[in-house]
Amino acid sequence: MSVTKGVILAGGPSKGTRMRPLTLDCPKPLLPIAGKPMIWHPLSALAKVPGLTEIIIIGFYEDSVMSSFIKESKREFPNIGISYLREYKALGTAGGLYHFRDSILRPPVPQNIFICNIDICSAYPFQEMMDLHSKHRGVGTIMGVNVKKETAVRYGCIVVDPETQQMLHYVEKPESWISNTVNGGIYLFDKSLFDEIKVAMDEKTARAAEDPLIKPDERLRLEQDVIVPLAAAKKMHVYQSRDFWRQIKTAASAVTASSLYLSRLQKTSPDFLAKPSSNIIPPVYIDSTATIDPSAKIGPNVAIGPGVVVGEGVRVKDAIILEGTTLEKHSCVLNSIVGANCTVGAWARVDGAPEPEQDVKGQISVTILATEVSLAPETLVRSCIVLPNKSLNRNSANEVLL
Ligand code: GTP
Repeated sequence: MSVTKGVILAGGPSKGTRMRPLTLDCPKPLLPIAGKPMIWHPLSALAKVPGLTEIIIIGFYEDSVMSSFIKESKREFPNIGISYLREYKALGTAGGLYHFRDSILRPPVPQNIFICNIDICSAYPFQEMMDLHSKHRGVGTIMGVNVKKETAVRYGCIVVDPETQQMLHYVEKPESWISNTVNGGIYLFDKSLFDEIKVAMDEKTARAAEDPLIKPDERLRLEQDVIVPLAAAKKMHVYQSRDFWRQIKTAASAVTASSLYLSRLQKTSPDFLAKPSSNIIPPVYIDSTATIDPSAKIGPNVAIGPGVVVGEGVRVKDAIILEGTTLEKHSCVLNSIVGANCTVGAWARVDGAPEPEQDVKGQISVTILATEVSLAPETLVRSCIVLPNKSLNRNSANEVLL
């Protein structure tokens, strides 16, 4: 069996700004989604690929940020090499791959390399991509997903030949509509990808040599600098996924992603989730160290982190409750993320509207309480973003509370 490796593009501290205030204390890849760090979902899916020997996470976070996750993952997947390679600065989605090409290509030399963006949630159809890839033997196969026509221009748009699945055209965030099929952020490349990246890098260096206004550097974008020319040369194919898919860019989209992953876990690993009962409406994840009063009603679509205390008569639905938080008796949390070590007082209510399909400027849907927020009993917080360490004792709606 030929060797396959996986690369996860984790970004760095300057990325994930739309996830604030959650990412003020927790780096985006480690944010708990459906009871596991965001990065665990692609990593665990890669770990199941037959013949996959190694997973390399590339990012520009400090090593110390990723070290405990790497250690735990090595313990969970002992047969796979797992490492974190740190870019000295943001090198772009292809610059890091190029910089670390020797590490990725070191023996056992991979024939194929999966590359996953961190900020998507998906069913990771790696086997199906591999099947299509081995049929056409082009340089790469991209996972395409279908989105609504009104939203398509916000993504990398793909024009695909429906007969051959060949990519005819790729435009990153076009000015006007060209296709409903967009880049799903998962790729399978032949190792010759690195020759193509070298061509793109050499062209960039040559342009910089001719134009004194361009500073030569190692930054390179996989989408615009590598995939656009590969599409033009008819060297890319598209695997069209019909399964669930979402970008995780905003805090609100984390609630949606958590629900989608919980529904999937219900089918694939039901034992990981809380047992359904009259008061637990599936899918629900409850960490083993959380304390839940039996009269609390939880679910569907709830993930409860370590050390959380849920009191008598509490109601939680469509929500993520992070580590160390206390929900006092008869409080209610709907369509919200409650950050670590918060206290929601008795009879208080934290709620929001579900994530809208399209962001409306200035409108907050899901309520986000950042770390160590405390909410007085009987207060109502609706569609608000509350920054860390804030104590609230008045009702608030549609506000950012600093
Ligand atoms: P935006 O809508 O502008 O955020 O663009 P996008 O959706 O195309 O995402 P972007 O290109 O910023 O990121 C795609 C993926 O690559 C994400 O998983 C990022 O975390 C990751 N990424 C982006 N830039 C870098 C980088 O410089 N280095 C590394 N290692 N990863 C990156």
